Amino acid sequence: MSLPKRVVLVGPMGAGKSTIGRMLARELGYKFLDSDRIIEERCGANIPWIFDVEGEEGFRQRETAMLDELSTEHETVLATGGGAVMRSENHALLKKHSVVVYLRTSIDQQVERTRKDRNRPLLQNDDPEGVLRRLFAVRDPLYTELADIIMHTDRKSPRLVVRQLVNRI
Ligand code: S3P
Repeated sequence: MSLPKRVVLVGPMGAGKSTIGRMLARELGYKFLDSDRIIEERCGANIPWIFDVEGEEGFRQRETAMLDELSTEHETVLATGGGAVMRSENHALLKKHSVVVYLRTSIDQQVERTRKDRNRPLLQNDDPEGVLRRLFAVRDPLYTELADIIMHTDRKSPRLVVRQLVNRI
């Protein structure tokens, strides 16, 4: 069996991309990278600050530059931000040398897993569930189109998702 150079995880906020990515990397003997965390490290500021000062557009520019830089990494599992699919130029960067895995997650689970989260600027309002619903309607077709593997995560432990992924990659 030959492993892909990269495994790229896409999906909405609360899909478990970071948790599953870290565990999957350990299982495959790969390095784990999280594009949001690297953007924060490079910028010396957290994502809410970047959105506040540079706007969502500023964040998206940083995100595209980061996906470009990380597209040449080998033996890595990459967790992406939920909006990484929103720019069409990112699609080729996400697909480069990689198996793209869509962690498909219901709105209920997204709401549950992002409750009380302060680090996601798009959800800091009166109706985070409504936002998650609207984003899902737009993004689910994009995640689906990009994906080589669609993995449902509802009612599954991260450990089970990882075990099922290892069998399919
Ligand atoms: C975003 C998702 C976040 C982060 C930023 C924007 C989005 O990442 O990139 O807050 O547009 O869905 P997670 O999916 O890891 O929460």
